[in-house]
Amino acid sequence: MTIPRPEPRIQRFEQLAYGMFIHWGLYSLLGQGEWIMHQANIPKAEYMKLKDDFTAKDFDGRAIAKLARDAGMRYITITSRHHDGFSLYDTCGLSDYDAPNSPAGRDLIADFVEGCNAEGIVPFFYHTTLDWYQDSFRNDFDGYLAYLRQSVELLCTNYGPIGGLWFDGNWSKPDADWQLDALYGMIRRHQPEAMIINNTGLEARGQVIHAEIDSVTFEQGRPRPLDRRGMPKYVSAEMCQTMNQHWGLGHRDFAYMSPRELIENLAACRKVGANYLLNVGPTASGRIPDYEAAALRRVGDWIKLYGDLLYEGRPGAVVGTGDDFALEYDGRVYLFIHNLSVQGDKNVVRMTSGAGPRAFTGLDRQINGVRWLDNNEELHFAHSVDQGLLVVNATGYPYGTNLVVRVAELT
Ligand code: GLC
Repeated sequence: MTIPRPEPRIQRFEQLAYGMFIHWGLYSLLGQGEWIMHQANIPKAEYMKLKDDFTAKDFDGRAIAKLARDAGMRYITITSRHHDGFSLYDTCGLSDYDAPNSPAGRDLIADFVEGCNAEGIVPFFYHTTLDWYQDSFRNDFDGYLAYLRQSVELLCTNYGPIGGLWFDGNWSKPDADWQLDALYGMIRRHQPEAMIINNTGLEARGQVIHAEIDSVTFEQGRPRPLDRRGMPKYVSAEMCQTMNQHWGLGHRDFAYMSPRELIENLAACRKVGANYLLNVGPTASGRIPDYEAAALRRVGDWIKLYGDLLYEGRPGAVVGTGDDFALEYDGRVYLFIHNLSVQGDKNVVRMTSGAGPRAFTGLDRQINGVRWLDNNEELHFAHSVDQGLLVVNATGYPYGTNLVVRVAELT
C-alpha cells in the first residue's frame, strides 16, 4: 500500500512545527477557564454583560507575534470566536456580540493579523462550531450553520492570506449534519492555501472526519505516529496542549509546566512528525502573563541551538529506544537523546546515572562518527551495518549544562 504525498500547503504546515495557541475572550475577565459560562450555568443575559468590561487595552498583536518568534514558534492560532459566541473580529453586522461593539472598539483579529504579518508569523483562526449564545444553535440548526458559514467567510475574505482555520465543537452534536462540504468548499474558494483542521476532541484523537481535513488533532495527548498507508490523502498531525490545566486564563490554576516539560513535549511531537500547538491564556486586558512569556522564551533558547532541524527534520527509518528517537534532515540523521545526567564532582552533582549506551535500529548505511551538536564532542559507538544496529555511548552533560533533550549528529 502506498503512502500519499503531502500537498504543498500540508508540507509547509509540517515545517511550521511549533505554534502558539491563544484562548482569549470574555471568559478571560472571570479567570476561571474558557468553559465557565457552561460549567457555572451562568445565564446568557448575565454573561453577556462581560462585554461591557472588555477593553482589550493591553492587546498588542505585534508584541504577541514578536514573543512567538522569540520563542521559536512559527504560527499562532487564536480564538476568533469560542463557545461563548463572542467574536474578537468585526462580524460586520452579523451580530453585535463582537469586539468592535465592546469598549475595545476595534477589530482585534485585524490587529493580530497585522502583527503576525509584520513578524513573519503565520496567523491561524480557531473558530468554534458550537455556540452557547446563538439560540439558533439549538432551535434552527440550518439557520445557525448559515450564520457560521457567513462568519467564517468574513475571516476568509477580510484579513488577507491566512494559515488556516481550526474548528472545534462538532463533537457537541456528533450525529448532526454539519454541512461540511459547504463550509470547507467556501474556504477552499477564498483561501486555497489555508489548512482546514477540525478538532476531534479528547475522545477521538487522530481522526479524519472529512475529505478536506488537512491535519488531525491530538488534544492534550501524546501524538501517535500516523499510519498513512492507503490513505486517500496525506494528512499532517498536531498536538494542542495547555501549559497549565485550562485554555482560558485560570486565576487559581498553578499547575504550570516547566521549560523542561515543554521541551520534552515538543520533542515527543517532532518524534512522530507532528506539530506542537502550545496554549497560553492572556489576561482580561489581553497581555500574555509573565510566567508563560518567560517559559516560552526559555524554550526558544533551546530551539535556537538546533535551528531548522526542529522544523524540517522528519522521522525516517532510524528508530530509538524509549523516548530517544532520530530525525532525518538535509540527508543526515540526528539522534535525540533524553534523560542524560550532569557529570561533575560527587559533592555537587546529584544524579550519577543517566549517561551510557543508547541503542538505535534501522541504520543500514556506514557512518564515520557521532558527535554532540552542542559541543562537537565525538562519541564512541558500535555499529552493525548488517543488523542496522547502532549503539552510542551517550556521555553526560558537562557541569553547568542540561539540555533536557540532547542532539547528536551522525557523520
Ligand atoms: C476543547 C474545548 C476547548 C478548547 C479546545 C482546544 O475541545 O472545548 O475549550 O478550546 O478543546 O483544543
